[in-house]
Formats: sequence, structure tokens, C-alpha cells
Amino acid sequence: MKFFIDTANLAQIKEAQDLGVLDGVTTNPSLMAKEGITGAENVKNHYLKICEIVDGDVSAEVIATDLEGMKKEGDALAALHPQIVVKIPMIKDGVKALKYFSDKGIKTNCTLVFSAGQALLAAKAGASYVSPFIGRLDDISTDGLALIEQIRIIYDNYGFATEILAASVRHTMHVIECAEIGADVMTGPLSSIEGLLKHPLTDSGLATFLADHAKAAQ
Ligand code: E4P
Repeated sequence: MKFFIDTANLAQIKEAQDLGVLDGVTTNPSLMAKEGITGAENVKNHYLKICEIVDGDVSAEVIATDLEGMKKEGDALAALHPQIVVKIPMIKDGVKALKYFSDKGIKTNCTLVFSAGQALLAAKAGASYVSPFIGRLDDISTDGLALIEQIRIIYDNYGFATEILAASVRHTMHVIECAEIGADVMTGPLSSIEGLLKHPLTDSGLATFLADHAKAAQ
């Protein structure tokens, strides 16, 4: 299972990278705005800074919602750095754009996916990644994990190469449940990754080992 971090915060990306388990980064216009990154040049430079920190795929989202605009923006983003994956929304022109980039050999991440039908379309159009937003489904009392299960079955039935990128992950249990279901990738905040480290018995066990060692050394 690949671990992506879902942020545009450089310090957090570096912290996850330093842990040695990071496979990539996802961003979106809201996450870029949260870091105060505005203006085309600043946005491009920020993507380059992220690519310098991580070794893997970095999703950069288009703002255009028409086919020609998405093609133009996506081509420019892809030309920035070989690690850039063009993030395209699940709308009609977005499906056409996925096919356009797939035909050119440019990697894509189809975002804002909330149904199995949308995920099937994205795979048919040749998306490299499909991003079902599980946290946002949970927010409206719908089972986000059930959607991942459904997509897993559909993709396995037909051998689609599109990777299931569980997005809108909110906490560590989401990560574990996605791993059980067989999501190829998860993207979440740093806390969802670091939460995997934690167990009270590890902390108390280590404290005991160190205390016993100190006593024996006296
Ligand atoms: C996916 O790539 C999105 O950036 C993201 O996971 C959205 O998550 P949110 O619902 O926590 O905003």
C-alpha cells in the first residue's frame, strides 16, 4: 500500500518523507490556499519545492473545468516536473481530459469521486489513480469504506490498472481499514500516518525496559 500525504505544507511533507514511508503527495486548491500559495508562478514554484522533498508522485489539480482549459493547464503542470500527476475533477470534460492525458502517457488522478459508477468511468478513460473521498462520504452518513470495497471488486473483475487512491482519509483507522480492503494508496494528514506508530503498551513496555536497564546498571 502506498502512503501519500494530503497537504501542501512543506514542513509536514518533509516530516513524513523523513519517516521513510512516504510514496507521494496530493494537493488541491483548498490545501494550496491554506498555505497562502496564490498566483500561477507561486503555485508552480510550490509544486517544484514539493517535488524536491519527495521521491514519488505529486498530484497537482487543474482549476479549469472545460476540456481545452484542462488540457492546457494539465500539459503545463506535467511539463513542470516528471513527478507531477495531473489531478482532474470527475466531470464530463474531465473524463475527456483523462483520456487525452492517458493517450499522451501523462499520469492522472481523477478527483472528487463519490460513486462506483464514477470510478468505473475514470478507469475506462485511463486514469492512473481514482480518488474516492471516504471522509466526505462519512460526513454525510454514507459508508465511504463500502465505496472502496465496491470499486476494488469492479477493478479486479476487469483487471483495470487504475490505482484506488483512498482520499479524504481523516484518521488512522481509515488507513488500516483501507489496507484491509485493498486500496492501492491512501492519502491523509500527517496525523493519520503518525497515528499508526502509537500503542500504549509500546510506551509502557519501553519505559519498563529502560527502567530495568538503568536499575541493573547501578
Ligand atoms: C484528495 O486528493 C483530496 O485532496 C483530499 O483527500 C480531500 O480531503 P478532505 O475531505 O479532508 O478535504
